[in-house]
Amino acid sequence: MLPTIAREGDVVVMIDQRKLPARELYVRCKTAPDVARAIKTMVIRGAPAIGVAAALGLAVGMRRSKATGTQKFAAEFQKTCELMASTRPTAVNLFWAIERMKRSFATGVRAGGSVDQIKDRLDREAQLIHDEDVASCRAMGAFGAAVVPDDARILTHCNAGALATAGYGTALGVIRGAVEQGKRVAVFADETRPFLQGARLTAWELVRDGIQTTVITDNMAGALMRQKKVDLVVVGADRIAANGDTANKIGTYGVAVLAREHQIPFYVAAPLSTVDLHTPDGAHIPIEERDAREVTHVGGAQLAPEGALIWNPAFDVTPHQYIGGIITERGILRPPYVESLKRAVDNVPGPRDPAYIS
Ligand code: MRU
Repeated sequence: MLPTIAREGDVVVMIDQRKLPARELYVRCKTAPDVARAIKTMVIRGAPAIGVAAALGLAVGMRRSKATGTQKFAAEFQKTCELMASTRPTAVNLFWAIERMKRSFATGVRAGGSVDQIKDRLDREAQLIHDEDVASCRAMGAFGAAVVPDDARILTHCNAGALATAGYGTALGVIRGAVEQGKRVAVFADETRPFLQGARLTAWELVRDGIQTTVITDNMAGALMRQKKVDLVVVGADRIAANGDTANKIGTYGVAVLAREHQIPFYVAAPLSTVDLHTPDGAHIPIEERDAREVTHVGGAQLAPEGALIWNPAFDVTPHQYIGGIITERGILRPPYVESLKRAVDNVPGPRDPAYIS
């Protein structure tokens, strides 16, 4: 499996996703600020991977603390959590992972644990977040494979693969799950301007796996669908609001509208750590705006003139009406999402309930 992120002693090691596919380099983060910088600068990206990185960064950061008393240790922990939370605003997995680490910390304090015992607890919780993410992706893959017909031609947008998670992927996990079940698939990867996660990362992953992959520029998706060359769309998510409205990489909304026009099923694959029941709908999801240079330049070459105004939102919101199903580790959720999301998050009833699994 692809080595997206791992802990080696007190260092967090990540493959540098800015350099792929040309170079396979690894970044070694020794401190929490190192990890925060890696998230902010897109060394690591993708909602679940960002959450895992933050958790490991907190564990490694606190491991280095020289504090001897829990009060000072708690103050340092709070500051480190704030640093992590300031990196990227849209992917809710980041805040979910920080919350889990905070809960673990509080449990340690309540149990009267020493600083060293709390450090051990944080280590275990971060590793658990990592391992659970891989398990969730595999479960999503197994459930999601059910909606992939044999010989399916699947369009995906951005990178929701092993690189965007602790391993295996969400949308690409569904594709891998179908392949593992013996289905033949062919994937169309939107290049995903401006950061090119589709061309650089999705294509790199799938080609490595021997899955047929065709890269298209984003403006080709409509023509492809009109020529009846797409059977299914599967994408990932950065935040799913309580009503099912879904923030994902900029351009996803356009793909969803095109899929609806051409009656092509459109699925979102995401772990429940991406579901934010505190956000009622898409209008309340904070959308990150990134540096203009991502739009004006590609690989150092200038595409747009000085003086042109630039708008660079990193994500858009697909209204829930366009989403045929949300593939999670507990099954495939169907509309009305207000109900199915809440039931899945609350884990009632069980994951194999046919009411929300197709
Ligand atoms: O800006 P990025 O590369 O972090 O955006 C990533 C996406 O939009 C992914 O589709 C999403 O995080 C799902 S990853 C399983």
